[in-house]
Amino acid sequence: MDFNDKVVLITGASSGLGAATAIHLSKQSAKLVLVGRKEINLKKIALYCEKANGIKPLAITADVTEDEDLERIIRETIENFGKLDVLVNNAGITAMGGIKKSDMASYDKIMAVNTRAVFRLTMLATPHLVQSKGCIVNVSSITSTRPNTISLAYNMSKAALDQFTKCVALELAPDGVRVNAVNPGFVKTNIIKNIGLTEDQIDLYAKNIASGTPLKKLVEANEVASLIAYLASDAAKSITGCCYPIDGGRLLV
Ligand SMILES: NC(=O)c1ccc[n+]([C@@H]2O[C@H](COP(=O)([O-])OP(=O)(O)OC[C@H]3O[C@@H](n4cnc5c(N)ncnc54)[C@H](OP(=O)(O)O)[C@@H]3O)[C@@H](O)[C@H]2O)c1
Repeated sequence: MDFNDKVVLITGASSGLGAATAIHLSKQSAKLVLVGRKEINLKKIALYCEKANGIKPLAITADVTEDEDLERIIRETIENFGKLDVLVNNAGITAMGGIKKSDMASYDKIMAVNTRAVFRLTMLATPHLVQSKGCIVNVSSITSTRPNTISLAYNMSKAALDQFTKCVALELAPDGVRVNAVNPGFVKTNIIKNIGLTEDQIDLYAKNIASGTPLKKLVEANEVASLIAYLASDAAKSITGCCYPIDGGRLLV
């Protein structure tokens, strides 16, 4: 797979799946725009990518819930690289809680990052993607279709993201722009640490997920990165409007 001369913008590139995707694509010669809030982490990933292909990524410290930041992300991408070929909407957060135990502040925060920011950033990116006949990969989750009782707002946000993927794919198909999603099962990243679980709790949770998964394993971040890269590549030129589970078979049970 070759991303030579392709400009790829990844949100949430300072950690987890976004960082793994950045590193994976740097090895395929992509020109990267890396977005995250934690500047130190972002710079660390940017340096790692630069060492892989000799191309300095554009690292943008930004909060995707701020409209001005979203406008700056697209403006600086075009100023720096002159075009945009691939948008990876990856930044995301979660919180614990079902309908009995949730709060509206955390609902609003999840929707702001996982759905509103994706909507607005995609709007801003669309003219450039139409021009480049580029593509979009959204990072959804198996919880978009697999109900659970522990993260209601998050699950809803990912269901919305799947429908967003399909509707925008339909709308932009005449422009030659493809839109797909990946739907990972549980991957050990900071997303779960950020909701306040201890290492022991995370290990127990991971162990339970692995044992309840048909392939008896967790999904790894680099596997998700490979799937994102495939969907963003010309090898997937006939694929649009699809939401791809990568879950060790967890959706089967
Ligand atoms: N891990 C899983 O089990 C799993 C499973 C299915 C889907 N996913 C999805 O995968 C995506 C990435 O999650 P992850 O597991 O890699 O989690 P992670 O390690 O916590 O990474 C999340 C990334 O999103 C960024 N982010 C969060 N809020 C932001 C904001 N307001 N503005 C800018 N950036 C923001 C973070 O940036 P900073 O750290 O710099 O703030 C970080 O780079 C999410 O959409 C998540 O829903 C994860």
